Amino acid sequence: MLNFEEEGKRNPVPGLAIAPTSGFMPAAGAAAPAAAPAATDERFSAGNAHRRIRVEDKQIINSKADVNQLVPFKYKWAWEKYIAACANHWMPQEINMGRDIALWKSADGLTEDERRVIKRNLNFFVTADSLAANNIVLGTYRHITAPECRQYLLRQAFEEAIHTHAYQYIVESLGLDEGEIFNAYHEISSIREKDEFLIPFIDTLTDPAFKTGTPEADQKLLKSLIVFACVMEGLFFYVGFTQILALGRQNKMTGAAEQYQYILRDESMHCNFGIDLVNQIKMENPHLWTAQFREEIQEIFRKAVELEYRYAEDTMPRGVLGLNAPMFKEYLRYIANRRCQQIGLDTLYPGANNPFPWMSEMIDLKKERNFFETRVIEYQTGGALSWD
Ligand SMILES: [Fe+2]
Ligand SMILES: [Fe+2]
Repeated sequence: MLNFEEEGKRNPVPGLAIAPTSGFMPAAGAAAPAAAPAATDERFSAGNAHRRIRVEDKQIINSKADVNQLVPFKYKWAWEKYIAACANHWMPQEINMGRDIALWKSADGLTEDERRVIKRNLNFFVTADSLAANNIVLGTYRHITAPECRQYLLRQAFEEAIHTHAYQYIVESLGLDEGEIFNAYHEISSIREKDEFLIPFIDTLTDPAFKTGTPEADQKLLKSLIVFACVMEGLFFYVGFTQILALGRQNKMTGAAEQYQYILRDESMHCNFGIDLVNQIKMENPHLWTAQFREEIQEIFRKAVELEYRYAEDTMPRGVLGLNAPMFKEYLRYIANRRCQQIGLDTLYPGANNPFPWMSEMIDLKKERNFFETRVIEYQTGGALSWD
């Protein structure tokens, strides 16, 4: 790391320090950073330093183009997801929790097994989305050099905050023991094991010394992106989502279920964005996608299915809500196959079927109830204000 004195010698223009993660192009005449292309590279030669951005210079990782210039677009899919995510904006406190509170407090409204499902659910999710947010803000964001993708990541990070808010709001509404719920990721082994599995991949990206630009480092980044999109958001959430949505389908905990429905919709977009990101990085850097790397990823999926199945067993020691743990073994295998296909890997569990086809309908939820229609209209009105 350079100190200010060294920086001053390298760059005579105050305030224009060269910071790779900000992507700011060096001023004309400034020395190039050590890892930059040779001085003969036209992008760094005097007179070209402030040249306008060309689409072909943009890259998802290791780009030398200025990350502060959103346009011209290269990754339209990322921008479109950002627009769609904003159109889906919601806030937890806009959902009425009155019926949930009455049901939770009534002596015979829920069975002990249903209460266990709800608490185990919150035990995992109250910290899961904080992990996801920290992974984006402190890790992923600085390694992604396409501004369209950064724009989506900013929106995604805020959505993770909304999700943590939603889980906190449910905990508070039901009057649950906050210490017990929020510390569960240390205290309940089926949850701790999931998080311990994720932590090394988060640590890779958040390590201040970690930099992309070599095949080894770029593979580490790609692996962490796959783990987060396909395992964390694409697999580890699905036992919990299915359980709470199954409650809602039986007209129980409908406020919580409505919140989970919106969270599921957000998360499926996070997962799809992550998959697009991974596939784009693969296209731009085919040398990273080696046979050994593919095997490592498949091993990660096998381990993740085991961990999530163990969590399913812990949340449902017996059948509940018409669900049981063995149904989830099939479901998790089906999801893992799907994730493998989405990133171009061979499937791992031939013949696995989806025992919950109704979950696909929930994921595909496009048009919302009055609640969302109202919100959308408000935003559109705001955007069309006349200043006459
Ligand atoms: Fe989330
Ligand atoms: Fe997410």
